[in-house]
Amino acid sequence: MSKTTRRVRVALGEALQPVGEILFESDGRREISLFRYAPAWLANPSRFAIAPALPLSETAFHRSGSGPNRRAALVGPVSDSAPDSWGRGLIRKAHRGGLTELDYLLAADDTTRQGALRYLDDAGQPLAQTLPSVPRLQNLAELRALARKSNAELELTPTERDVLIGNASSLGGARPKANIRDGSGQLAIAKFTAEQDSLPIERVEVATLALARDAGVNAALAHLELANTDRPVALIRRFDRRGERRIGYLSAQSFIDANSGTGAFYTDIADALRGHGADPKAQLEELYRRVLFTILVSNNDDHLKNHGLLHVGGGRWVLSPAFDINPQPHRQRGLETGISELSGNAASVEAALEAAPFFDIDRTAAAKTLADMAATINNRWRDHCRNVGLTARQIAHYRPAFDHEEHRFARRLAG
Ligand SMILES: Nc1ncnc2c1ncn2[C@@H]1O[C@H](COP(=O)(O)OP(=O)(O)OP(=O)(O)O)[C@@H](O)[C@H]1O
Ligand SMILES: [Mg+2]
Repeated sequence: MSKTTRRVRVALGEALQPVGEILFESDGRREISLFRYAPAWLANPSRFAIAPALPLSETAFHRSGSGPNRRAALVGPVSDSAPDSWGRGLIRKAHRGGLTELDYLLAADDTTRQGALRYLDDAGQPLAQTLPSVPRLQNLAELRALARKSNAELELTPTERDVLIGNASSLGGARPKANIRDGSGQLAIAKFTAEQDSLPIERVEVATLALARDAGVNAALAHLELANTDRPVALIRRFDRRGERRIGYLSAQSFIDANSGTGAFYTDIADALRGHGADPKAQLEELYRRVLFTILVSNNDDHLKNHGLLHVGGGRWVLSPAFDINPQPHRQRGLETGISELSGNAASVEAALEAAPFFDIDRTAAAKTLADMAATINNRWRDHCRNVGLTARQIAHYRPAFDHEEHRFARRLAG
């Protein structure tokens, strides 16, 4: 196959401030890209690096990918604004194959795209503006039916496909979801109960985010819609929008410049926060609380794309509200992102206490945070599960996720 080179301009926010450009080439097998900052951006007094791994410079940043590693063909912050498995599945259904990373990126809707980066044609017009406007809450049941149809591999009409691709493909992650405007008109993510879910995953996700807030973690705001049906929907307020304003977003993977597939440690995120975080001390404390919470609620889906960062100006970043925390009652306990090289992937609060100094926290303070958090979880988890409609039987089923050996350790510590 002959090589084709495509050029896309990269811009920022509602004002479409020119930031740079991407040159993209594919020979059908290997895909390569160059990202380069625009001279106007380098001269702009409010310039900043769009990721720590892309310091402001006239030099181009080269990336390449092929096969299972294709997503490495775009620089991290751009890749973070491209669809993930759920969105890609939708896009694939509408095309005959042969899609490149750039095709996936540009198939996602500009209005709902993650973060603040936008992609423009040579005339400066946003690419990837899809026709249907973001649905409102009153259309939620219809949207749920469409997602279900797509998930069940049923044939969608071209209009249905457009609605779904337009509104649902921009989002990351693997679970079925769509963008929607909530009751107050704010962008939110609707996460659907999937056909194959044998557990009340979305109910528990909403309960766990509320529990996290009780436990002192800054977690995304979520509530349940269509709660009295057997397919409830978790509605999670988009934290990368303030009104219509777009807030820069990076996955932790891009923030620490990790290769997908290679494990990394919370201490790597801590190090990056020391260098690029706004108020690093507060950020390290928040990160540490998330480690403890993850262990105490048996969340083992804490991969590097389930942690995010928001841009607060001047190339400084803060942890986004916590999201996608899924307690697992009966899986082997372990972390996707290990605490530190010393403890590997062990989901151990004792290891977390030992690692406290790596987060600039002294051990006594860490032990107190742990004891308080464990007590809050113990006192509140059942209520939160009840509030989202779990039955007594389901609550009993989830108990091992919220009450286990790590809690016993925390209780012993509290004396
Ligand atoms: N409240 C939010 N506001 C903005 N972006 C969000 C929010 N919640 C999640 N995201 C983004 O959307 C992506 C997908 O969301 P989420 O992780 O909840 O989905 P998922 O399908 O459960 O993921 P996974 O494949 O990890 O199970 C996240 O990786 C993050 O980039
Ligand atoms: Mg996720």
